[in-house]
Amino acid sequence: MVTIAALFVSCSTQEQQGKGQMTEAQIEQRIDEILPQLTLEEKAAMCHAQSKFSTPGVPRLGIPEIWWSDGPHGVRAEINWNDWGYSSWTNDSVTAFPALSALAATFNPELSYLYGVALGEESRYRKKNVILGPGLNIYRTPLNGRNFEYMGEDPYLTSVMAVPYIQGVQSTGTATSVKHFALNNQEVDRMSVNVKVSDRALREIYLPAFKAAIVRGHAWTIMGAYNKYQDEHCCSNKTLLMDILKGEWQFDGVVVSDWGGVHETDRSVVNGLDVEMGTYTNGLTSESKFSFDDYFLGRPYVNAIKCGKFTEKELDDKVRRILRLNLRTNNGWGNGRMTCDEHMKVAHDIAKEAVVLLKNETDVLPLNKDSELKIAVVGENAVRSLIKAGGSSELKPKYEVSPLEGIRNAFPKANVEQSLGYTSGMSVYGAVLPPRENQDSLRLAALKIAKEADIVIFVGGLNKSHEQDCEGGDRKDYLLPFGQNQLIEQLVEVNPKTIVVLTSGNAVAMPWIEKVPAVVQAWYLGSELGNVVGEVLNGTINPSGKLPFSYPVKLEDSAPHSFADAVVYPGVDKQEEYREDILIGYRWHDTKDIKPLFAFGYGLSYSQFEIKNISVNKTVSNLNISATVANMGSRDGAEVVQVYVGKNDSKVLRAVKELKGFKKVSLKSGEEQMVELEVPIESLAFYNEELKSWEIEKGGYTVYVGNSSDNVQPFDVNID
Ligand code: GLC
Repeated sequence: MVTIAALFVSCSTQEQQGKGQMTEAQIEQRIDEILPQLTLEEKAAMCHAQSKFSTPGVPRLGIPEIWWSDGPHGVRAEINWNDWGYSSWTNDSVTAFPALSALAATFNPELSYLYGVALGEESRYRKKNVILGPGLNIYRTPLNGRNFEYMGEDPYLTSVMAVPYIQGVQSTGTATSVKHFALNNQEVDRMSVNVKVSDRALREIYLPAFKAAIVRGHAWTIMGAYNKYQDEHCCSNKTLLMDILKGEWQFDGVVVSDWGGVHETDRSVVNGLDVEMGTYTNGLTSESKFSFDDYFLGRPYVNAIKCGKFTEKELDDKVRRILRLNLRTNNGWGNGRMTCDEHMKVAHDIAKEAVVLLKNETDVLPLNKDSELKIAVVGENAVRSLIKAGGSSELKPKYEVSPLEGIRNAFPKANVEQSLGYTSGMSVYGAVLPPRENQDSLRLAALKIAKEADIVIFVGGLNKSHEQDCEGGDRKDYLLPFGQNQLIEQLVEVNPKTIVVLTSGNAVAMPWIEKVPAVVQAWYLGSELGNVVGEVLNGTINPSGKLPFSYPVKLEDSAPHSFADAVVYPGVDKQEEYREDILIGYRWHDTKDIKPLFAFGYGLSYSQFEIKNISVNKTVSNLNISATVANMGSRDGAEVVQVYVGKNDSKVLRAVKELKGFKKVSLKSGEEQMVELEVPIESLAFYNEELKSWEIEKGGYTVYVGNSSDNVQPFDVNID
């Protein structure tokens, strides 16, 4: 019989990857061999943390530990064994990939796969079994501090962009951990808020991306959310974990808690939690010798079994899943790679396709790359780090090109001057900024160089500090912070050629929108941010990104804030009601006829595209849509054909239209190409709450085809 130690083959070189790997069936056979050899204490120990980011193996049997690491945008720097401090290693600087909100804006699933492979390789090189991402929570309120980590307001877009990312990561032998399951759509009271939502909204809006991740992406782990659903914490929630995830979806992986998300033993045991991380103790401050054993799935669980409260049935299921994860990730894989040129290129290619051109009046952009003009660069986000904060997704980047550097590289002959203009009071690249009361002096200095310049490039937006785009808090309002709106108004007054570049992961109000000639949404693009900003501004890159979430004109135009009732957001006494039901984002704007500032799916190009010769044909199981896309402009570029579908005269509440298909097509200047999309008729179903099943209504539907949710042509079709 093969010894246990030999089961965990570790591959010395990339070439061996694929050779000698166990099949799934062989992994199951190994689990059957290992399980009977484990003691009760060894089994229970595998179900909870032994340190901040690791769970134990079984040393005497040669079963290795499992190492977990944040995050969705790159491998987080090493954290101490027993506390949240960084270990200050000198070998854990990584590639900082664009935030997932930026990946979503590419509307290009092929990039998701490349992203996953690169991230998986860096995880392997850092010897991590599990990378804690992607975040799949739906963008419900523009105030949510973690929207930048997620993929927008539409469940179909999130699903289509998430699956290849998961497949890419896991193709390297690294497990993903899709998070936060489920309904973690805000940071306010995230550890305790109880979300009340209709079954339809749960099934049609908040679960589809998780279902796609499990059923199509075959994610090897999933992370329970901190909040409650139906008055039960998500990390020990019967409906979510047992009935839906492990029941309906047949999930065979590991349910891991969010760090500190477990609150009891009994329901954690019977409701499907497999691994408890980061609850309570830091492994030091407790009466017992080694206090990670105090975790709810540690000593208390062992004692509960010993006194007959539980058999080892549930424990054996948990351990099977954990061994499956262990064997899947220790299965003759390569050693991965770190910060190699290929990974930098992946980061650049994603960033390149993510940038959304929101406004470009009189084609003020792109600027002439050979210009010798005087360019004033104003704004703190032109120079500050947008990677080294934000919470668990923060990174220690191998490098980070700032927008100022990128602009200087993009316009080598120009005379580029820089002035902060405002400050968030947070350190910038380590330098300590003048105290906030000096804002006036900063503003006046910026206005001075702006007045003397030919062009002003304002680089602002949000940042990764608390109550901005950051875990652990939500924004307090929808406005650009730190006096930016006033500054932009004054800049454009002294120099009408003021271009606004926003680096952020959320929508913001733009009271100055009519006064500025151009606006570029540049997201958090990671290491390559500055290079891509410069290349978009000088035309090397022709923007092709589309908005993954709506930009309301004002906060109360967005669904949860339109009720002007705290119980709808952020909740009252930790009770919250999603009264907007299925109508979030563009679903709300379309159905309530509230025009957004910029619509879901919107994004301009330096080219002009025409979508023509559209046809919609119904077969037994699909709607087949074809269209010709023509690049009428003088520049090569890319367009995204989007297909939405709405039910006419439905017997239930329905959004006017819902995204059911999209395809990005790259076209040289003057080129045209036919694009074909297939929409399965079963994807038009709504969730019937009475029948507790999906139902396809017969009758008339409208198929909308275009390049933005607010720029589509309607076509009638009948489903009988
Ligand atoms: C955090 C986050 C989660 C992260 C985990 C480990 O609280 O909610 O996304 O992966 O803890 O840092």
